[in-house]
Amino acid sequence: MKIRDLETPALVVMEKTMERNLDRMLSMLEGKHPRLRPHYKTHKSPYIAALQIAKGAKGITCSKLSEAEDLANYGIKDILIANQVVQPSKIAKMAHLAGRCHLTVCVDDADNLKAISDAACLAGTNVNVYVELEMGMNRCGVNDFEFFCELAWLANSLPGVTYGGIQAYAGNLAHEYDRAYREKTTLGNEARLKELIAFLESRGIKSENVSGGSTGTSYLKAEDTVYTELQAGSFMFMDRAYRPMEVGFENALFVAATVISAGKGRFVIDAGIKSISPDQGPPQVLGWDYDDVSLSEEHTSFYGEHNFKVGDTVMVIPGHCCATVNLYDELYYSDGEEITACRPIVSRGKAQ
Ligand SMILES: Cc1ncc(COP(=O)(O)O)c(C=O)c1O
Repeated sequence: MKIRDLETPALVVMEKTMERNLDRMLSMLEGKHPRLRPHYKTHKSPYIAALQIAKGAKGITCSKLSEAEDLANYGIKDILIANQVVQPSKIAKMAHLAGRCHLTVCVDDADNLKAISDAACLAGTNVNVYVELEMGMNRCGVNDFEFFCELAWLANSLPGVTYGGIQAYAGNLAHEYDRAYREKTTLGNEARLKELIAFLESRGIKSENVSGGSTGTSYLKAEDTVYTELQAGSFMFMDRAYRPMEVGFENALFVAATVISAGKGRFVIDAGIKSISPDQGPPQVLGWDYDDVSLSEEHTSFYGEHNFKVGDTVMVIPGHCCATVNLYDELYYSDGEEITACRPIVSRGKAQ
């Protein structure tokens, strides 16, 4: 079967390009301090997670407990939930899951940490924890070194949990297009983390891991860094939002779509917001480089000179690969023209 025979919209990955992206990332990190712990949110596919491990990733990062369960079901042994898990029923499940893999979760609250400790004792397991430092994104994490130290100390003292290090994801820099600002702020973050590590050591606490980083800062993490784990995800597929970052990875992920209307100065495809996530900006048709685009639920209109005809298949680079993947049950693997495989996106929709 060829790409043009797919019923559209359909999600297609160029497998060799994806593997080249993975090889490029691994060779960038080779012999350097951080090891790759790629983020599952990009592909949500255990098949790809297993490929990442087979080629040299130390483990997998994910966002949600339900994703971690899928990964463990497919035999992934080292899993980081780069997020807080606070609901009691989920904590109980997580404690059991820790009996099947080396499981790490992030914390920024003492009661949450105690609840994880209680659940792990009940389940007879051990949960590794990273205390999260707020890095400027205003998401989770603690700001204060004293409080950070209290949590790390608590994690070292409570049964059923172990202090494994620092979660330090500066997501605010992932798509920072101003390269000089991105690099300067990353250096500032490194200095702050060094200070924190020294502060903890002065209190007798050793931080085995420092985990974080994105596709947009990965080349900086390959330099002199305190990070031991790189959580980048999008580099596998890439998308339009990452294009201006010039980080050297190739577009591997496309939505195959059909032109359903074509007139002078405008053509429309059969894929809209329900098939291409616009949360990080509009999509782009491969080989057609205009910026004037409008999306509705089932249509995207592209404005500008073109030669497309009704019925043409176009390959669309999504604005945001990770959120687009979450819209599909299946991923078609291709060598450029032929479809070589179709595999389920097992964790699609797993937001719990
Ligand atoms: C915790 C965490 N780590 C790493 C990433 C990096 O992902 P990417 O390389 O796709 O920008 C993200 C992105 O959302 C994230 O939330």
